[in-house]
Amino acid sequence: MGRPPTRQQAPAPLYRPVPCTVQSVADLTPTEKLFRLVREDGRPFGHRPGQFVQVSMLGAGEAPISVSSSPTRGPYLDLGVRRAGELTGLMHEVLAPGAEVGIRGPFGTSFDTDAMRGGDVLLIAGGCGLAPMRALIQYCEDRRDEFGNVTVLYGARTPEDRLYKDDLAEWSRSPHLDCRCTVDEAPPDQQWDGNVGVITTLMPPLEVDPQRTTAVIVGPPVMYRFVISELEAKRLRHDQVIVSLERHMKCGVGKCGHCTIEHLYCCLDGPVFRLDEIIHLKGAI
Ligand SMILES: Cc1cc2nc3c(=O)[nH]c(=O)nc-3n(C[C@H](O)[C@H](O)[C@H](O)COP(=O)(O)OP(=O)(O)OC[C@H]3O[C@@H](n4cnc5c(N)ncnc54)[C@H](O)[C@@H]3O)c2cc1C
Ligand code: FES
Repeated sequence: MGRPPTRQQAPAPLYRPVPCTVQSVADLTPTEKLFRLVREDGRPFGHRPGQFVQVSMLGAGEAPISVSSSPTRGPYLDLGVRRAGELTGLMHEVLAPGAEVGIRGPFGTSFDTDAMRGGDVLLIAGGCGLAPMRALIQYCEDRRDEFGNVTVLYGARTPEDRLYKDDLAEWSRSPHLDCRCTVDEAPPDQQWDGNVGVITTLMPPLEVDPQRTTAVIVGPPVMYRFVISELEAKRLRHDQVIVSLERHMKCGVGKCGHCTIEHLYCCLDGPVFRLDEIIHLKGAI
């Protein structure tokens, strides 16, 4: 399988946020909003699917947020942001089209699309994991000829909690993707006629060719172990599995040590790792 994700060459400036303008804001769920940003100097961000940026607002500090759009879509960044605390709360409250925010990055490793090229890809996202996965799904859609079968599995807590519902509806109809969704529970006041159960309930019926498949997993920590067991049952080796891991981050550039997994820095060596590189590390999965 492909090369391990390499430590990225951090773009300049590492420390000074680039001024960006909010182009649009949309509600994704009651607690998540989608912000589309462009650089004020009109230049592209130069990101790759799987990377993150540090978003800053005056007086509220900054936070790492995954890039949710593929560079193949245009010179903008889509960020799907959950209202969690100070910075993300302020983003939800005050950011409207025309507002200014700062962006450092893009930072971190990306999904190794070179390793996936020519084979089948199985993209498995849970909850907020659809944020970075959306960038990879868009990339696969836009470069469809480069991949074999593209399968997307997505699990959310309830139908209402699903991120990117319009995209999910479009992917479910698309002849180019096999997109399957599930929810942990479907309360009676929420319309849902799909699968109910955790994401691994979508996996046994899948036909996976272990000779030509790369799997990518992004989701809450509890998901990884169970999904990895299902992939092992389908005879995928650990070097055929790519994971994106979330850790508390401060600097995003390898200086503060907040994000370490043993000797690795999640912000520099990750957040995207090949499973065989990290599965033996304490606390990684
Ligand atoms: C690589 C990476 C990508 C991320 N991508 C996204 C994304 O696409 N969308 C999104 O909504 N969020 C994402 N997050 C999480 C996001 O960075 C945090 O929710 C954010 O830092 C909260 O900032 P705040 O100032 O609003 O909250 P704060 O006021 O700083 O904190 C609010 C609460 O959230 C907790 N918290 C802060 N960071 C994390 C974290 N990394 N994991 C768990 N709890 C945390 C704090 O301990 C505190 O309890 C990502 C995190 C990382 C490391
Ligand atoms: S976030 Fe500071 S070292 Fe990784």
